[in-house]
Amino acid sequence: MPATATRLHSFTESVIRGMTRLALRHNAINLSQGFPDFGPPEPVLQALERALRGPHHQYAITWGAPRFREALARKIHRFSGAPVDPEQNLVVTCGSTEAMMVAMMTACNPGDRVIVFSPFYENYAADAILSGAEPIYVPLHAPEFRYDLQELARAFEQGPKAIVVCNPSNPTGRVFSREELTEILALAEHHDAFVITDEPYEHIVYGPHRHTYMHALPGAADRVITCNSLSKTFSMTGWRLGYVQAAPRIIDQAKKVHDFLTVGAAAPLQEAAVTALDLPMEYYRDLTDLYTAKRDVFIGCLRELRLPFQEPEGAYFVMVDISSLGFPTDTEAAEWMVREIGVAGVPGSSFFREPEHRFIRFHFARQEVTLREAASRLSRLRDVRGR
Ligand SMILES: Cc1ncc(COP(=O)(O)O)c(C=O)c1O
Repeated sequence: MPATATRLHSFTESVIRGMTRLALRHNAINLSQGFPDFGPPEPVLQALERALRGPHHQYAITWGAPRFREALARKIHRFSGAPVDPEQNLVVTCGSTEAMMVAMMTACNPGDRVIVFSPFYENYAADAILSGAEPIYVPLHAPEFRYDLQELARAFEQGPKAIVVCNPSNPTGRVFSREELTEILALAEHHDAFVITDEPYEHIVYGPHRHTYMHALPGAADRVITCNSLSKTFSMTGWRLGYVQAAPRIIDQAKKVHDFLTVGAAAPLQEAAVTALDLPMEYYRDLTDLYTAKRDVFIGCLRELRLPFQEPEGAYFVMVDISSLGFPTDTEAAEWMVREIGVAGVPGSSFFREPEHRFIRFHFARQEVTLREAASRLSRLRDVRGR
């Protein structure tokens, strides 16, 4: 039998999606794979019904339906203030997942290096490896998950082609400050590297923290490649709509990668999502309030458990330090919790390059009643301390 490609041997299947399967088998509350258990806003659902009856059932233009790209440009400008030309600065993709793959393949030649912070969203290393690049990992130090500037500068000395910045960050819940992003951009400028940002949680940021759009920082235009998505902002992870935003010379190349990877995102969904992108500011304020309330319920429960954690500044994830529970590894702890407690999280080690087994990541994009039930189940952990 012919051997499959060796580049696939260095990474495993998604641990997150594996935990989801385990949660289903044990009928556990799934706080592992981060997607909401509620749908898009009503006006968007109505727009979808209209779109399905319309003439949008064949391929859209490969880099995105014009109305959708125009709405994207309006929305990006509304929040970051940056001018966006829908023809020259955007490629519509199947979610941020494809956007990241497109960005990586557009930026990197085989053999290039890419800086990835650790812990990291598990796709980044796979994206780098699939595009022939090699990740250089730079630690984000617990408990606050901050990088050390000297360590980052040393990684840049190795001549990377790009750095990946996830902001707000999955899995840590950190929101990088404007100063940190400016520092990263300055290093990238000095070493002539691309900055690939992944920002699907741009609108899930808890006060007083604020989201900084890296593409709008001075000096960003020629090197920042923004990957983003409608998945989390409009609770539509199944619609698979995202985009790459960058300078025209980058987008010209990215269009080709996207065309040969997927041809395009679903045409009727792009049509309906114009309504989502044009929702008023009130929608975004409500979204922040909604997730702030969920965060407060969930971290209130964690405080009662007296397990250490870093309060999320953005996104809807929290890394909980479970070392005091006495399990040999985080994976054993996570599997035990699914079976015995009925709550699924993700073993933190799947996000780290380093052998770090202290954490389990939970997400709280669940209805409040579900979060309260999860809290009540997790309260049993008080009895297992120091097993
Ligand atoms: C940081 C990050 N990037 C990308 C994605 C994937 O997003 P999409 O649904 O747009 O492909 C996720 C989903 O959880 C994520 O957390």
